[in-house]
Amino acid sequence: MKYNVLSKPDFKKALLKKEIKTVCLNIKVPKHLKDFCKDKKYFIKTHGCQANYRDSEIYKGYFELLGLKETDILEKADFILINSCAVRQKAEEKVLSELGEIKQLKTKDKNKILILAGCMAQEEKNIRTIINSFNFVDLVLGTHDLNNLVRNLDLIITKNQQIIDVSSSSGCIYEKLPSKRDSKFKAFVNITYGCDKFCSYCIVPFLRGRQRSRSIESILKECKELEKSGYKEITLLGQNVTSYGKDLKDGKSFANLLDKVASLNIPRINFLTSHPFDFDYKIIDVIKKHKNIMRYMHLPIQSGCDSILKLMNRKYTFDEYASIIEETRKKIPDIRFSTDIIVGFPNETKKQNEESLKNIKKINFDGAFTFIYSPREGTTAAKIKDNVPRKEKTERFKKLTNILRESFSKSNQKYIGKTLSVLVDSISKTDKNFLSGYSHENLLINFKGNKDLIGSIVKVKVISEHIYFLKGEIVI
Ligand code: 5AD
Ligand code: SF4
Repeated sequence: MKYNVLSKPDFKKALLKKEIKTVCLNIKVPKHLKDFCKDKKYFIKTHGCQANYRDSEIYKGYFELLGLKETDILEKADFILINSCAVRQKAEEKVLSELGEIKQLKTKDKNKILILAGCMAQEEKNIRTIINSFNFVDLVLGTHDLNNLVRNLDLIITKNQQIIDVSSSSGCIYEKLPSKRDSKFKAFVNITYGCDKFCSYCIVPFLRGRQRSRSIESILKECKELEKSGYKEITLLGQNVTSYGKDLKDGKSFANLLDKVASLNIPRINFLTSHPFDFDYKIIDVIKKHKNIMRYMHLPIQSGCDSILKLMNRKYTFDEYASIIEETRKKIPDIRFSTDIIVGFPNETKKQNEESLKNIKKINFDGAFTFIYSPREGTTAAKIKDNVPRKEKTERFKKLTNILRESFSKSNQKYIGKTLSVLVDSISKTDKNFLSGYSHENLLINFKGNKDLIGSIVKVKVISEHIYFLKGEIVI
């Protein structure tokens, strides 16, 4: 069968800046669709970052409106949605192999409806791959097209069509999107969509479009609703939260927004991800002022070498980065910093790598996510001919990991014997006898306790550190 192509991705269009309209949705589901979905189930697999996890909660909201019930068993699902990530090649390969496995399920039961959504859908090359090799996918849905889900499912179910619906530029911010949140006590709240930074290695602006900030009123309204429902932790979410408001005409900044959200009666406020270039020192004072803002910041450095930072188009030097950390630690000594680091940027010399490692060591990071550079078609960096062999990159990666492990261990040791305030998350994934939660400094901590404590904030005394987590005892 041939795909009905309603819209297709185009990187040029994705980069166009548009006037932003806020659209308040009033979604209606036709009765015949509800009848069709009665007693049927959906399954969602999410890859990638928090933006995708939040989108999946919205897909779940749509599915629930249709009358479907969630299942965590793939084989039992009538509707399967894969929310994909494209930030590195490996993430894409994982999704394609997953689709290959799902093919067998579809061969056994042709009535199953398979949807590929998320960032991979935004790449033209992937659309070709789906048409040529994975044409059992019923719907390819772009990141700007969440709101077309019901219309597209209607075409699949009533007209027996296969659909590609991936528009590239978005001029809309949708409010009142349906949503089924994964947690009853921790919530993500989008504050910006897209990104205007164009780091030379990064494909995100092509997939998620230019930055669009939600109005402060809409964000506060959502936060107040969460407060009323008893949520204990809110994470303000954006590719670059520190540039919140730069595209608005009301002069509001991230520091203003954070101050307002933290003034609500919510025990914990967190934000993700910050960018050093847009970092406004007023943010430090806002964090200091509000005890409910978590003592934690994720501030990607990407490299510790100035010439590589320039090639990455990060728009700051190592010294500027280090100043933010120094100033914040001076004013808020209990704050923890985590970061993102890319190893093996094209043509990085041994000397540049050494400079980067030396500087990264100086920061004494409390946590980090490390990646080997992955060329992404369409980005500026992908056009550079790379002369660094893979083996050399792996060596550099190992050196970095050793530096970071030492730094994390040193950072964690400071907490031994201290009592931390922990929001209990779940039963520990590694040991069923333990509970697992995050402290106000975003430290992962495992401790023995009754599972009824999940969702509450408890005091835990730290007894040992294990590089990536702590162990503790609950204090009664
Ligand atoms: N290769 C490797 N890592 C990347 N990241 C973004 N693009 C790439 C790429 N092409 C990393 C950055 C970013 C994190 C979310 O993913 O470190 O901060
Ligand atoms: Fe990508 Fe840079 Fe935007 Fe982060 S700030 S999403 S790394 S372009």
